[in-house]
Formats: sequence, C-alpha cells, structure tokens
Amino acid sequence: MVTSAARQDIRLEVGGAVAPPLERSHGVTRAEIARTLPRLASVVPDLLGRDAASGFLRVLGRRRLLKGLQDEAARQRKRGFEDVVHIGIGGSSLGAEAIWRALAHPQHNLLPRRRRGGPRVHFVDNVDPESLGALLEWVDLKTALVHVVSKSGGTVETAAGFQIVRAALERRVGRGWARHCVATTGRDGALQRIARAEGMSILPFPEDVGGRFSGLTSSGLFTPAVAGVDVAGLVAGGRRMVRRMVDAPLTENPAAVAGAIAFLMAERKGKPIHVMMPYADALEPFARWFVQLSGESLGKRKGQRGVGPTPLPAKGTTDQHSQVQLFVEGPADKLVVFVTTRRDRRSVVVPGEGPASYLESVELGSLLRAEQQGTAVALARAGRPSLCWELPEITPAALGQLLVALETQTVYQAKLYGVNAYDQPGVEAGKIAAFALIGREGYEQERAAVEADQPERWTI
Ligand code: PA5
Repeated sequence: MVTSAARQDIRLEVGGAVAPPLERSHGVTRAEIARTLPRLASVVPDLLGRDAASGFLRVLGRRRLLKGLQDEAARQRKRGFEDVVHIGIGGSSLGAEAIWRALAHPQHNLLPRRRRGGPRVHFVDNVDPESLGALLEWVDLKTALVHVVSKSGGTVETAAGFQIVRAALERRVGRGWARHCVATTGRDGALQRIARAEGMSILPFPEDVGGRFSGLTSSGLFTPAVAGVDVAGLVAGGRRMVRRMVDAPLTENPAAVAGAIAFLMAERKGKPIHVMMPYADALEPFARWFVQLSGESLGKRKGQRGVGPTPLPAKGTTDQHSQVQLFVEGPADKLVVFVTTRRDRRSVVVPGEGPASYLESVELGSLLRAEQQGTAVALARAGRPSLCWELPEITPAALGQLLVALETQTVYQAKLYGVNAYDQPGVEAGKIAAFALIGREGYEQERAAVEADQPERWTI
C-alpha cells in the first residue's frame, strides 16, 4: 500500500542508465551496481555517528538551530523590511538562492508588498561593480535587511560586498546600521568579531558543516525564511530522506544508487560529464547549486591524476534548443540527470487558436513532461544514458529531500573515488594570488611569485 507520506517522496528513475537495454559501454549493468553498492554501506551510518567528517545530516536533527533561525526570521519580518540583501559566495549563497527561487513566487520581487508577503530578495555573490553598484542605486537601505553569510568570516568577495553595503547603510541610517544586519558566521572569524562588536544579530554557522553542505542551516534558510518560505518543511523533507536512507537497503536508497551509477559512468563508461537538467525554471539556481556541490567536492587530485566528474548545468525545455543536439549526437561522454515534477503548482492551458492547433487544451505542464520524456527517449535511442529525479511537486518537503539526497550522493561518490568531499585546496591558490595582486599586506613574496608565474603575454 502506498501511504500518503510515500506519495510525497521523491523518486529516482534509473532505467535510462542501465544496460541492457543501453548497449554495454553506454549503460551500467545491474551486476556492476550490485558490486559497487556494498562499498557504500558505512557512509550514512558514519555521517550520523559521533565522529562524522561532516554534520550535514546530523544538523537536521538540531531543532534548536532551526528554531533559532525561525525566531530571528519572524522577528525581522515583523519589522516590515522591503528588501533583504543576502551577501555571500559559493556555498554561502547558492543554497539560499536555490531554495528561494524554487519556493518563492516566480515574480516575487515584482509583486506588490501585500501579495509578496515578505521583502524582496537580492543576492550579492560577486564583486562585479555593475551588479552591486546598480543594486545600491535602486534599493533603499533604510528599509532593507542585510544577511551576510560567511563561515570563515574572511572570504574576500563577501568582505568586499559587506564593507560596501555597510558603509552605504551607515550613510543612509546612521548609527543604527547594525540593527539592519544579521550575520551567519562561524565562531572565530573576523565577521564574528565585527558582528559582536557592532551589536549585529548573529546566527551560528554550524562548525561541522561546510559551505556547500549548509543549505539546510541558517546559511541557506534564513533569507528564504524572512521572505516567507516554509523552511521547517524543507528540514522535515531532509529528515525524511535521512530516514529513507537509514531504513532502506542500499538497493532502495536513491542517493546510493545514483552515486554508484555516476561513479561507474565516469570511471568505467567514459562518461565524465554529468549534466544536471531540471525541467523547471524555478530549479535553475538549484542546477548551479548542484554544480558547485559536485565540482568542489569531487574535483580532486588523487596521486598523480585529477579525478571527479565535470558537472554541467542545463534547463529543460530551453536547452533542448541549445545543448541537447550535443548531448544526443556529440561525443558519448555524458550522463544526463533530469529533474521533473509529477504535478504542477499552476495550471496553464493552451487555447485553440493557431499556429499550432494540435496544442488546443494541452496543459503546459503536460507539454513540459512530454518534452522531457521525448528527450530521454532520444538520448536512449542514441545510446546515451540518463537518470531522472521525480518530485511529486516543487514543495519544501520535496526540495528538502532532493538537496539531502544529492549531498549524500556526492559523499557516496567521494567514497568511491577515495577523495575528501569537504575540502577545496584548489580554490586556495587562486585566492592567495588575488590577495597578492591587490597588494594585501603580508603577501609581498607571493606577489613576486605570482608575477613570475604569469604566462608570457601574446596579445592580438
Ligand atoms: O562550499 C564551500 O565550502 C565554499 O564554496 C564556501 O562556501 C565559500 O568559499 C564561501 O566561504 P565562506 O562561507 O567561508 O565565506
């Protein structure tokens, strides 16, 4: 019997990646999956254990954390801000943006206040003067809340963004500027010190959760919560996925099976490019979130070689008229991962006038699903593998399940590659070089080294 809770479960369709029917070199066999899964048996128990290398699953059970951020969000909502400016980068921004875009009204920022039910939301995740300069021309900081997110408290892009916004805020509202700021940050960094000294509200960035795994903590939840998103529903969805992974055998654990297939595709079947292709505009930032999660967690040096799949974002149906030609007929080096929904949140029906009379009375959602299935079939006919995550609907509970499933899938893949999913040594070199180039004190020697390492210029 299918319970109503199970009807809310997300599902993983793996048939499109399996051989047969796919030819051997293009699909993984059931036997290969069965041989790989036992290597993953310890992953979830370890993540739930006391000595877990990351607390991203355990944090879902820390109810005080959730309550703390909900209470703070409720308090800030009462103050009636018109805008929230979220400043952060990488894992300190992408989770919040993915959640907000998936669950807010698609035109949230354009709606009148009454229909929005919360402030407009803006993300500052770059040091592009065009974007931040233009935002500050437009937003009235007198009625804005700033949420600055940095676990380390020292990330250069976030520091630059915050310093600029803080100065503008101080000019606009004077000494009370700190009351417009909430910081989500780790215990010991510069941001923690400043926030404390200035009397800003502070939400804890869990010490045992890294940026790209922090979507279901204050880092990813506070901004959406202020805008009115049901963040408790997201966490409940995440917990449900944890229960499924704990209770089910690995063969019924979608994250484990997806992880095993992704690994085998990359390492045994010559398919190192993994396309994340949701069929939903609302999930476009989610695809970028996944790209960062996979890229930063799995792209690692292992001995003399570099490992890890190359994640590629795409969107259906839009990219059917862009990249799908390449996926179907180009190099057979890709696994396409679809995300679809079984139901839509809105019904839009095509009326009968031309030019396409065959579309009369067709629901746009059915057309979207038909196009996804058509693409999956075209890929299969060309011998190209695909997987499909099916959501009952885009709801907080379903998104929470999906985020936790993909985070855990990433850790399963890391286990198979034998790499650390939680560090990012490759990012450090670029950061240090940038500090040296902007003349930061203490980086003088680096500057000389960086200048010496610049490739010889060949300007045309
Ligand atoms: O996933 C990660 O760990 C990184 O992408 C970080 O989130 C990013 O570098 C920002 O770091 P911080 O939160 O310390 O500012």
